[in-house]
Amino acid sequence: MCGIVAYLGHREACPIILKGLHRLEYRGYDSAGVALLNGELNVFKKKGKVSDLEAYLKDKNVHANVGMGHTRWATHGEPNDVNAHPHYSTSERIAIIHNGIIENYAALKKHLEHQGHVFHSDTDTEVFVNLIEEIQKQNSCSLEEAVRLALHEVIGAYAIVVLSKDAPNQLIAARKGSPMVIGIGEGEFFVASDATPIIEYTNEVVYVNDYEIAVIRDGKLDIRSKEDVVQTPYIQKLELELDSIEKGGYEHFMLKEIFEQPRSILDSMRGRLELEAGHLNMGGIRAYEQKFVNAQRIIIVACGTSWHAGLVAEYLIEDLARIPVEVEYASEFRYRNPVITERDIVIAISQSGETADTLAAIELAKSKGATIFGVCNVVGSSIARATDAGAYTHAGPEIGVASTKAFTAQVTVLTLLAMIMGQKRGTITDTKLRELMVELNNIPAKVEKALELDLEIQAIAEIFKDVPNFLYLGRGYNFPVALEGALKLKEISYIHAEGYPAAEMKHGPIALIDENMPVVVIATKDSSYEKVVSNIQEVKARKGRIIAVVTEGDTVIPAMAEFVVEVPPTSEVLVPLVSVIPLQLLSYHIAVLRGCNVDQPRNLAKSVTVE
Ligand code: M6R
Repeated sequence: MCGIVAYLGHREACPIILKGLHRLEYRGYDSAGVALLNGELNVFKKKGKVSDLEAYLKDKNVHANVGMGHTRWATHGEPNDVNAHPHYSTSERIAIIHNGIIENYAALKKHLEHQGHVFHSDTDTEVFVNLIEEIQKQNSCSLEEAVRLALHEVIGAYAIVVLSKDAPNQLIAARKGSPMVIGIGEGEFFVASDATPIIEYTNEVVYVNDYEIAVIRDGKLDIRSKEDVVQTPYIQKLELELDSIEKGGYEHFMLKEIFEQPRSILDSMRGRLELEAGHLNMGGIRAYEQKFVNAQRIIIVACGTSWHAGLVAEYLIEDLARIPVEVEYASEFRYRNPVITERDIVIAISQSGETADTLAAIELAKSKGATIFGVCNVVGSSIARATDAGAYTHAGPEIGVASTKAFTAQVTVLTLLAMIMGQKRGTITDTKLRELMVELNNIPAKVEKALELDLEIQAIAEIFKDVPNFLYLGRGYNFPVALEGALKLKEISYIHAEGYPAAEMKHGPIALIDENMPVVVIATKDSSYEKVVSNIQEVKARKGRIIAVVTEGDTVIPAMAEFVVEVPPTSEVLVPLVSVIPLQLLSYHIAVLRGCNVDQPRNLAKSVTVE
């Protein structure tokens, strides 16, 4: 939540910062601001998108070689100009940008008010910068020391950058619980929430660890622990390509990402599925293979779309590897008193690798001795680093807030995991395994085929774009797909949608069905097909408007449904990878037709780094 970017070097800072903020806008976009250090310390900020800030800066003097910027997703205080970052200290000699939440801000604020500090915003961040100022005053110390001491007093999560008018060529950054990466160029440095604002300038980066403070000064980067012990930065070479974070001719990132799926699914199995040799590999589980084989239970923790991928994994692992699986919302898991033992494996699924609820669930499971396996997309992310082992999904950067290619990549990796576990545990025959390997290998081509439905689905979207409610039904492997379809629609089009197991409909939701209710039924040819056909009859009898996702060649459902989209046939356990595609396209087109901001839906942010 919130994106931060900062620059210190020989170039103009402001254009670099603004470009970086555009790249980070997926993290929050209700207000944005910059602070520029050029003898003066000037802060400019505006409610709205980064483009609103840009317009506001048009006639301002933004000349500076040092600066920082922020794009906000509000936690404390409504989105407005005053609550936007950066925030000045009372003297306006220090400014800060912050991603995270300071939990003890109220007590600190009270104390600082007694000391004469004046607050203008409702934010916790303004408390942070005044705390730094107060500590510096009380101790007559350097800014660096004041930041260090302030970090001992704040409780919560932060990635901060601090500039001071009294330290004209210096930038201080620190993190705990919120992501931060530093780019190292030729005589220049970049700080950002992720690497996307950095990659066109340098591919050498350092991921800052929790409780570390980075001081950039005199062309040098100095990293210390909160206890002031010098740390040796580990410089990594980024593999990110600039193309992968641009729209590449598509109108929206979401559409680009939907259409990237044949490739991203292939990338997620690259080196893991070796069809010719008949091998399945997953480097990440090698050291924990026996743990997996002997696991008494697998607990999956995740949020949102990743949780839906977790539900698919429950079906897969129980089906293929015969290990009991529980799928938990990370946010709930943390706040009850779950029974976890050392023989449990916890699989944490997260696209961003920064979701605070999932991270907290991992910490809890770790404290009880469970082995933690991560399935993350973002390399080097907090969750990837907090787990004992894991497998990256390799879907490439996902920028649209609505998760699409990350979901199919997660399901692919989890399918491979279930197959490997089934093989090692002897719960799947060689013939069945071979069949699945062949079919998994065919999935990218089948997804490609499903994407050809685009125009057909656009026409359906035209018809339903103004309805207030949608129902999504599926059974078995298609139940999580129904949930995912409903989530996609509500988050980007603001239409109320519910996903249900098709058979559960008669226990309540059926009361909603009348001639105005569109019901999307995912009814591919699988073991529950006949039952789903009966469920469709039940909807039809109540005049519901049926949009059915069926297997190519189906002749039964087209006679019953008002609209039918056909997806290629595949094995039952792989069907979510194909059946989800039309649902992603449907939500996309409906949202576009309603004039919604598809890539940046209201109230949402790409990674939710607050609990
Ligand atoms: O980065 P994560 O996968 O941990 O994110 C989890 C959810 O916040 C995320 O899937 C969210 O539900 C998406 N907006 C869904 O499209």
